[in-house]
Amino acid sequence: MILVTGGAGYVGSHCVRELVREGRDVVVFDNLSQGRRDAVLAQRFVEGDLLDSTALERVFAEHDIEAVLHFAGLICVGESMVQPERYYEQNVGGTINLLRQMRSSGVRQLVFSSSAAVYGDPRQVPIPEDHGKNPTSVYGRTKWIVEEILADCARGSGLRYVALRYFNAAGAASDGRLGETHRPETHLIPLVLAAAMDARREVRVFGTDYDTPDGTCIRDYVHVDDLSRAHAAALRALAAGSSGGAYNLGSMQGFSVREVIETCRRVTGRAIRVVDGPRRPGDPPSLVADSRLARRELDWVPEITSLDEIVRTAWAWAQAHGVG
Ligand SMILES: NC(=O)c1ccc[n+]([C@@H]2O[C@H](COP(=O)([O-])OP(=O)(O)OC[C@H]3O[C@@H](n4cnc5c(N)ncnc54)[C@H](O)[C@@H]3O)[C@@H](O)[C@H]2O)c1
Repeated sequence: MILVTGGAGYVGSHCVRELVREGRDVVVFDNLSQGRRDAVLAQRFVEGDLLDSTALERVFAEHDIEAVLHFAGLICVGESMVQPERYYEQNVGGTINLLRQMRSSGVRQLVFSSSAAVYGDPRQVPIPEDHGKNPTSVYGRTKWIVEEILADCARGSGLRYVALRYFNAAGAASDGRLGETHRPETHLIPLVLAAAMDARREVRVFGTDYDTPDGTCIRDYVHVDDLSRAHAAALRALAAGSSGGAYNLGSMQGFSVREVIETCRRVTGRAIRVVDGPRRPGDPPSLVADSRLARRELDWVPEITSLDEIVRTAWAWAQAHGVG
């Protein structure tokens, strides 16, 4: 059985569905601080917090767990800067609790949700995995600290792990059953779609004077269903004996904020009010993945690479369920 922490959240819920489709037994552990119970498309769900060691111990005692997918954590970059203790406690402390429990239960395989935020302001784009790590946010630092802890556990206690560094997760399940609902929403595509639906007055563009072709930040958008396939591939690699490592998950294409807004206008056919504003501290001009290592070693290739297609799935979800 696969334990999925944070499996009621955005990326986790899509991955759970992929595993269930593959015929795997899954138990989801989530405190529902962000996630939704109705997004859990697995048989087993345990409501619990990673910081509650007794609850975690019970999950491991009651289920025959062979591997863990670890999504649970706090994800807002801006919030992490003003609540550092909370982010370290949840993202680092919560992971240590999980690792301790895995060790005492003899569970050795882990897939961790890391992030492009570990690189900070890159010197080289597309960014390869061995690029220096210099996170510019507390959030990014929690991800990098966890990766270093995992490397220590691999050396010292026989853990086998894969850290998947997602770039910008985006889109929704093509059948409209699952999608993105963060509270508060901080991700660009749902925010633009909220403006298209008049759920927000406008979209704010943070910085128009970057050294990029149109002056706005460039990001790499990877469809959430492609992320799910990467997790399934990582589990297969671990089961086949791989000792793991870290992989970038991105489409290897960059789109500027203005290009994303234009794509949303085209896909929705709606007017979208845009207000230009100053840069946000800590936002690198361009983050684009070099994800050839995942292609080579995990046999993972993103299948949904058109931004129009990504936005179409997000728009279908937004219209049915609301957004932003
Ligand atoms: N969404 C992205 O673009 C993106 C990019 C890079 C990395 N990531 C990472 O991927 C993971 C999932 O991101 P997401 O967008 O699905 O976020 P999300 O907030 O939708 O999902 C996180 C889930 O974890 C649960 N959770 C949080 N703290 C918990 C705790 N202490 N105990 C138990 N459950 C807890 C929440 O209820 C939620 O369901 C996170 O670790 C995030 O840092 C996401």
